[in-house]
Amino acid sequence: MNNDSTARIVDALQRWIAQAPPGAKVPSNRALMAEYGAGPVTVQKAMRKLAALGLVESRPGVGTFVRTVRTARPLDYGWQTGALRSPRTRIPALSTPMRSGRPDTIGLHAGYPDRELLPERLVRAALARAARSDAALTRTPAAGSPELQAWFAGELAEAAPVGVAPPSPRDVVVLPGSQSGLSTVFRALVGSGSPLLMESPSYWGAIVAAAQTGVHVVPVPSGADGPDAEELARAFDETGARAFYAQPNYANPTGAQWSAELREEVLGVVRAHGAFLVEDDWAHDFGIDTSAQPVAAHDDAGHVVYLRSLTKSVSPSIRVAAVVARGPARDRILADHGAVSMYVSGLLQAAAVDVVTQPGWRTHLRSLRRQLRSRRDMLAAALAEHAPGAHLAHLPPGGLNLWARLPDSTSLDRLVRDCEAEGVTIAPGTEWFPAEPPGPYIRLNYSVPDPDRFPDGARVIGRALSDA
Ligand SMILES: Cc1ncc(COP(=O)(O)O)c(C=O)c1O
Repeated sequence: MNNDSTARIVDALQRWIAQAPPGAKVPSNRALMAEYGAGPVTVQKAMRKLAALGLVESRPGVGTFVRTVRTARPLDYGWQTGALRSPRTRIPALSTPMRSGRPDTIGLHAGYPDRELLPERLVRAALARAARSDAALTRTPAAGSPELQAWFAGELAEAAPVGVAPPSPRDVVVLPGSQSGLSTVFRALVGSGSPLLMESPSYWGAIVAAAQTGVHVVPVPSGADGPDAEELARAFDETGARAFYAQPNYANPTGAQWSAELREEVLGVVRAHGAFLVEDDWAHDFGIDTSAQPVAAHDDAGHVVYLRSLTKSVSPSIRVAAVVARGPARDRILADHGAVSMYVSGLLQAAAVDVVTQPGWRTHLRSLRRQLRSRRDMLAAALAEHAPGAHLAHLPPGGLNLWARLPDSTSLDRLVRDCEAEGVTIAPGTEWFPAEPPGPYIRLNYSVPDPDRFPDGARVIGRALSDA
């Protein structure tokens, strides 16, 4: 048995196959051994090579046959055009933050933090423990595991001032990520064709979820200080909307955190209009100069529907979030969640509650705060030095992103393309506006890998800005 003998048999059989009709039976291994004076291993090796080349196929117990060559023909899905008609809304196939960058690029477009910022040791230990527990084999209740419900309710209860009745574990519905929660809340509490007020700019995923659920988005201007309460009241009056989606803490993309006065004012406006505030506390664990202050902690009348996710701070693989809602709103949310997802994997819920109840979780959050501060400051300094045309309205007190205004004359498409050609991916601000953007913006995530390369990234943005 040697490679030369194998190659000799492969060559000879390739010539034979070229003339044989598709489906012809290849001589048996025994016949080939006799014909070529080769051992069984050499013949088997030759047959494996021919199979790997796609020339033969073996049918166990029957023999080996010349593979039937199927002629390549273009597949025709044209009939689906008639069946599907036009889409109700045109939703982008993949938003920029969800794109995977090439490994060598400086990926400032990303939506989730680098794994260096995750509590890796806690996550691995928690998943191993969860795998050994009953959670690996049992179905959890539709509203969530009681331990995790209690943890989410307890976290919000700790922030509740005296005189406000804290939420109970029953008010918590565990979700497979808060993105699914947005769709559920919009469907369950607003409904197709009804208006939903939304900060502008706002999280692209909320804009997409609203479009997909058929909710009609009404933008309310917002910025580094959050929305204007009077403008919000006017929008409620004009549209008859009964819900306002907002991010009072470290908004994606602006990084804004509402002041205590604004939190009170917005709650007042929402109450006065008999409406809901859908509070997306996505960056609860990403405070840098301040800590997150949920508006929901100040409401016990069911006006605030509170979304809290662990996917960015625990692990993007542990897709666990929760919505805290009271009264009939909670029941409607649970009904929608049940119809869409039934329940969230108990294994993931067990791992999530394990991580956030370890003493190491608090230590991790303290170190995360330091790392985010240093990364935010590095990227802001790099921009100021190398891309002065990218203007920051403020240094965000928390969150993961810088939101930069560019000169009015900037061609955003060209800027993004030029940066990408130079190995830097950035997210065009357009995706964060529910209507026409009032100017060109970019969003840059400072929690991405390789902060040492931020100055290189800023240099590329600066050069591309002077061309675009
Ligand atoms: C503001 C905001 N809300 C919700 C989400 C969805 O997060 P997840 O579904 O991972 O909980 C994101 C993710 O980027 C976000 O930025």
